[in-house]
Parts: sequence; C-alpha cells; structure tokens
Amino acid sequence: MTFGTRLQAELDQFKRDGVYKRLNYLESPQAARVKMQGHGEVVILSSNNYLGLCNEPEVVAAGQRALEQFGAGTGSVRFICGTFTIHRELEAALAQFVGCESSLTYGSCWNANEGLCPTLLGEQDIVISDQLNHASIIDSIRLAKTIAKCQTAVYRHSDMADLEDKLKAAGDARLRLIFSDGIFSMEGDIAKLPDIVTLARKYDAVVAVDDSHATGVLGRTGRGTAEHHGMLGEIDVITSTLGKALGGAAGGFTAGPAPLSDYLTQRSRPQLFSNALPPTVAGSALAAVRHLERHPELVQRLHENARYFRGQLAGLGFQPLPGETPIVPVILGETAKAIRMSELLLEEGVFVTGFGYPVVPQGHARVRCQLSAAHTQADLDFALQAFKRVGGRLGLI
Ligand SMILES: Cc1ncc(COP(=O)(O)O)c(C=O)c1O
Repeated sequence: MTFGTRLQAELDQFKRDGVYKRLNYLESPQAARVKMQGHGEVVILSSNNYLGLCNEPEVVAAGQRALEQFGAGTGSVRFICGTFTIHRELEAALAQFVGCESSLTYGSCWNANEGLCPTLLGEQDIVISDQLNHASIIDSIRLAKTIAKCQTAVYRHSDMADLEDKLKAAGDARLRLIFSDGIFSMEGDIAKLPDIVTLARKYDAVVAVDDSHATGVLGRTGRGTAEHHGMLGEIDVITSTLGKALGGAAGGFTAGPAPLSDYLTQRSRPQLFSNALPPTVAGSALAAVRHLERHPELVQRLHENARYFRGQLAGLGFQPLPGETPIVPVILGETAKAIRMSELLLEEGVFVTGFGYPVVPQGHARVRCQLSAAHTQADLDFALQAFKRVGGRLGLI
C-alpha cells in the first residue's frame, strides 16, 4: 500500500464512521449572509464573527494601509530581523483593552497557548486545567508535561470543590497555574472567575484564562470574562485570539503583568522560532480594537441578538442550553441527527454546523448556533423559521 492509498483508506473509513468533515466554500466575505458555492446566499450561524468586524470597511482599510506601509511581512522571527512598530502599537492596545500591563502577539492563539505552559512551568510546578478546556490548552499542557516535566491535574468542568481539592493536593508545588477557558466553546457557558480567583488567592496560585470566545463578546464593552464578572485587572494571564471578534483574520496574544511579555519574548518557542503576525493582520486587528472602543453598542447588539434567538428557539420547542453568551447549542442526542439537521438547515439557507462524537461526548450531539452583532432581526427570523420547518420535519418539536 502506498502512503497515499493508506491515507485514502483512512479517509474512507472517516466517511463510513460519519466523522468526515466537508468544507463549504464561501465566495463572499464573512458576514451575516454569505454566498456559499452551490447554495447561493445563506444566513451564517456558525461563525465567530461576533461583532461583524471581518468585513468592516475600517478594519479592511487598515489592513491595506499596513500592507502598503510595512510590506508583506517581517521575513523572519522578530528577535532576529526586527519587529514592526505596528506590532508594538497593537500589543499596547490589546493589553490596555483586556486590563493587563503588557501583551505579546503570536501567529495564532493556538501558538499563544502552546507557548505558555512549557515556558512558565518546570519540574516543581503544576498546571490545573478545566476538563472542558480548548484543545490548544490541552496540547500546551501535554507539551509542558513532556518537555518541562511539570505536574498536571484536571478538575471536573467548573467544579470548584474539585478545583480546591486539586489545589490542596498541589501544596508542595513551586508554581500552581490554574488554566481555564473564559467561555467554553462547545457549551457556551462562562468560567466562574470570581470563585477561581478566590481559590487562587487562598492557595497562592496564578490564573490564566483563554478568552478567545469572550474577547469582544463578554462585558458591557467587550473586554471579556473579567469585565463580565467586574474583575478587570484581576486576572494574572489572559490569552486570546484575533481570529474571532477582533477582525477574524488570524493571530493571538498573551497578556499579563509587565514582565510577562518580555519573558515570553526571551523564552517561548512559538515566539522564538516562528514569524510575527503579517502587518496586514496587525493593522486590521488594531483597527478592530479601536473600532470596538468607539462602538460598544456593537456588544449590546450582540447580547440582544443572543437573548432574542435563544428565547425564540425555546419558544419553538427546542431546548437550547441556557446561558448568556452568543454560543447557543441545541442538544439533539445522536450524531447522525445533528448532522442531518445541519444538512436540512443548509437546504433552507441557514449554515450551522452539527457536532457529534468525538468532538462532544457520546449522546450529546448538537447543532451549535453562534450569533453576531451583524445579524439583523430579519436574518434571525429567517433562521428561526428554518429551524421551525426542519425541527418539524425531524420530529424534534
Ligand atoms: C478557546 C480557544 N482557544 C484557542 C483557539 C485557537 O485560536 P486561533 O484560531 O487563534 O489559533 C480557539 C479557536 O477555536 C478557541 O476556541
């Protein structure tokens, strides 16, 4: 069997197992409605374009200007060949926005997370992680365990008694790092930061929060989970993405006390061995932060859209998971049902992804709706009508 045929055989098995992912091709920018190859115009309910900034003219124009001013890229990693002033400006803006003293950007939040645990932790240290944390946190921890030989522990999802047990058991460690998502992406629930921070103070631990789904989303002005809980400035380390609410291009960052970004610049491997953000991405992200600072009403609209959609779905007879975030999962049970539902919705002109095992636990397959400030009332009502028809056809409501 050749290398190619072996891969093909495995791909065929993915298809037979119903876990093969088909890509949908978009012919227009990310927006409330997009042009999808083979499907025409569809309302999109599965994008992280929470504030509609992916195609905001100011954000696009800023990317173009940065491209003109700085060219395509740094040409190497930052410490070797120099870094652009727009990176420094962006990092200052991001730090201030999320309530930290400094920040450092990476090519993705995946890289930011990957760069954190192996850099901060050594053999005498421990990282304690929520069971439902994002894959990039899990991989960061696996890397730290392998490379830095740190200790690890996992607490049951948002279970503060279990977190406290893990902290007590880690009394001998030199550094205790608690790592949690801000918003958990599959459930759409919010980390219990006040309790986490109280426990961290009690047991002398450091708190890191991945706010990828919360930056631009939570809090009155979109500053994230800390603002939502009235705790801006109280979180030790925040990682987040520029690939969702903040323009949606790509990139991520780590924010924290003043020495953190310098320390990561010295030591974190994705920083030392990988190129900086392209200037166009830095320019767009900076414009997205500035735009959001001037337009906090976008965040209010996002919250209103999420409230409306969740309420109306429940009114139709669906059972969306309760919550206050723009991630609205509708639990359907079997994977095949979730996939069928998403296919039928697409036929009705609504793009929403179905998730099944192994992405979510067996029996908890779902379609995950994500709202955006860009959705109009008409977009939401169009989607709700489609849910009503499809739900009826599948005997779900
Ligand atoms: C919680 C969380 N962390 C990290 C990431 C990775 O972000 P990026 O696309 O910037 O690598 C994601 C993206 O899905 C995420 O949801």
